[in-house]
Amino acid sequence: MKILGIETSCDETAAAVVEDGKKVISNVVASSSEMHAKTGGVIPENAARQQIKSIIPVINESLEGLDKNDIDAIAVTVGPGLIGSLLIGVETAKTLAHLWNKPIVPVNHLVAHIYANWINSTPEFPALVLVVSGGHTDLVMMKNHGNFKWIGGTRDDAAGEAFDKCARLLSLLYPGGPSISSAAEKFNFENPKLEKKLFPRPLINDDNFDWSFSGLKTAVLRTVQNTKDIEQRVPEIAAEVQEAIVDSLVYKCQKAIDKFKPKSFLLSGGVAANSRLREKFMHEVFAKNEKTGLHVPEAKLCTDNAAAIAACAYYNDKPVSWKKITANPELTIVS
Ligand code: KG4
Ligand code: ZN
Repeated sequence: MKILGIETSCDETAAAVVEDGKKVISNVVASSSEMHAKTGGVIPENAARQQIKSIIPVINESLEGLDKNDIDAIAVTVGPGLIGSLLIGVETAKTLAHLWNKPIVPVNHLVAHIYANWINSTPEFPALVLVVSGGHTDLVMMKNHGNFKWIGGTRDDAAGEAFDKCARLLSLLYPGGPSISSAAEKFNFENPKLEKKLFPRPLINDDNFDWSFSGLKTAVLRTVQNTKDIEQRVPEIAAEVQEAIVDSLVYKCQKAIDKFKPKSFLLSGGVAANSRLREKFMHEVFAKNEKTGLHVPEAKLCTDNAAAIAACAYYNDKPVSWKKITANPELTIVS
């Protein structure tokens, strides 16, 4: 079964064709992030306008070498996300479904991030999942396809949001995650003089699976204001920011793995593309947890893409009439 996935929840316009939820036939992503770098972040109206420009060329490219008769169903992100951006994908998908007479499957963007783990792989249930994106940080237990129990999450800013806000304070370009990560690479933590703990890890000793990242930007702001040679210290501060976020995520996930003993642990969402996070999970957490299988999608399947949308639709195949599909910017992971 070949599904055409369409994703337009924020500043990426994406379309992909995936066979049987596993095999990626095409995966096209057009990002307007360079434009948002100029404004220091996403301005929703600008993102929506770029979606309109890109949607048809991106879908056409994803269908290269294929005919509409090869497509069995259309899957589209209905939320959460920016309403203007979501509407472009949703209305385009509805139009295609109507014209081509194909079933259409509405997809929750956050759940789709998780399904990037099913591309070329088959995680075992129960699976504990960390979803870390620009707007969300959630830890959920997945007992089966489509069956989620929320275990914990951020009480304020999402991990990606923390990367983005701290990057801005350091005059690094949007999106902040990749910028902080590459600035941090210029810094050597092995230098014994350095503390590696410039910033706090809130809630780390609390008996829950929650995070709080909003204090980090205040701490970074204070450091920036109090540092004379700030330009020279950007790699160090970037490395400290990355370390604080990664440490907090890894620590609480390790605690949850110890408590729930899942068969697998899945990383997902844009922040899961972070190489320090991936490295820490691999070397510090999974070296000690032989009974839990670690799944980490390749980086381009962690950030927004439509292959994950199509995979999600395959495993949770609930087609609805195109007339009933609407965008829902407020959708949550367990709704
Ligand atoms: O999942 P995603 O692509 O879009 C949302 O659904 O939000 O996540 C975007 C977030 C942004 O905050 C971005 O800075 C962060 O993921 N991100 C990263 C990396 N690549 C993207 N954060 C840390 N390291 C990265 N390499
Ligand atoms: Zn996303």
